[in-house]
Amino acid sequence: MTHIPRTPAFDCSKAFLDNGYQFISERCREYASDIFQTRIMLRPVYCVSGEDAARMFYVPGRFTRNGAMPPTTLSLLQDHGSVLTLDDEEHARRKEMFMGLMGPARLAQLMELFEAEWRRRIPVWQRQPSVILQDEVEQVLCRSVCQWVGISLDEDELRQRTAELTAMIEGAGSIGPRNWKGQLLRQRTERWAREQIRAARGLSGEDRPHTPLEVIAHHTALHGHHPDYKTAAVELLNLLRPVVAVARYITFSALALHRYPQYRERLAHAEPGLAEMFVQEVRRYYPFFPVVGGIAREPFSWREHQFQAGDWILLDLHGTNHDPRLWQQPHDFHPEQFASWDRSPFNFIPQGGGEYSHGHRCAGEWLTIELLKSALHLLTTSMRYEVPAQNLDISLSRMPATIHSRFIISQVHPAGSVQ
Ligand code: HEM
Repeated sequence: MTHIPRTPAFDCSKAFLDNGYQFISERCREYASDIFQTRIMLRPVYCVSGEDAARMFYVPGRFTRNGAMPPTTLSLLQDHGSVLTLDDEEHARRKEMFMGLMGPARLAQLMELFEAEWRRRIPVWQRQPSVILQDEVEQVLCRSVCQWVGISLDEDELRQRTAELTAMIEGAGSIGPRNWKGQLLRQRTERWAREQIRAARGLSGEDRPHTPLEVIAHHTALHGHHPDYKTAAVELLNLLRPVVAVARYITFSALALHRYPQYRERLAHAEPGLAEMFVQEVRRYYPFFPVVGGIAREPFSWREHQFQAGDWILLDLHGTNHDPRLWQQPHDFHPEQFASWDRSPFNFIPQGGGEYSHGHRCAGEWLTIELLKSALHLLTTSMRYEVPAQNLDISLSRMPATIHSRFIISQVHPAGSVQ
């Protein structure tokens, strides 16, 4: 049995909320250990960081996500009954439904809708003195993902749905008013999502379009029954909400283009492989979810320590993506380091690690990458814009983190137009 360092503070909830992104890595560095013990919300927890820790964490079936995050966060991010809260065969069956929506043809459809909607907005942005890119992209994503799943929205509904979905994302990592706002709006969105499921289930065989909404509404669980309306609505939202959340990565991409303009021309000229490396570096470098939690389902040992069923573990996502043992320049934005990345599912884990089907690795990772590539293409080839002076700081005390100004652009013109 090895000694596991323990924080001197009895409870570290405040330190974690103040900066969840560096909470684990800073302490691991201080204790020269990939693991330490502390308490968060008065509960004992093991915090782990690095590739080896991710390998331990992503052994299929070892951890459940049930009870591994505060209920207020769970209800805004995934909610009870969602795929994240399932285990074993029930999980595999539901995950199969999600992964079945991520094939190349389906993703190409979404990209087409997304790019068309973005292009449709360029003349509108052109008429405005300035545009808050994150807010605009959230709306573009909301409309395109709703169309993709098979739901059309009028302008009022678009504004309402975008506001509700973004409030859930904003409130997920906080306690207090921001979280309450998300909870309140969630109830309205859920009612709407249940109506969509009810309407889809009401259609007879030949009227049923082969849309993602139809797939979710008619999905059968392990024993051949349809999950109840609430659960199906939760899964519909689990498709819509995180797609809208990709707006954060898109604004981070715009920020990276602004900070590192040497890539703009090369991307516009489609230098082979560069867009993929740029997008991966955006997901590695910029903060999104700091950690992921699990509760051990059975005893196991790691680093000569015996863990018991019920132990709570937090895996450091952000810190692992910045681990100097894994990345040559962890704190610089350097897309080229992906040219030599070994593609391990344990050392680059912005959306979780391990495998998709029998683990909880994010179902929307390929979709996220494709959307980011599309957005990069649009930002570098479809429009010209200025970036006026603004506060571009990213506060790590807010989870998920965002650019203070939400990235303002001005003097937008379609590419190729005369000013
Ligand atoms: C915006 C960027 C995104 C980030 C940073 C992100 C991150 C994550 C993380 C950290 C997990 C949990 C992994 C674990 O527990 O081990 C997860 C799970 C999940 N994500 Fe994402 N995600 C993103 C986008 C998406 C998108 C676009 C979708 C839409 C399809 C999606 C759907 C899901 C689902 C369904 C799960 C649960 C998977 C399971 O339990 O097997 N995510 N995501």
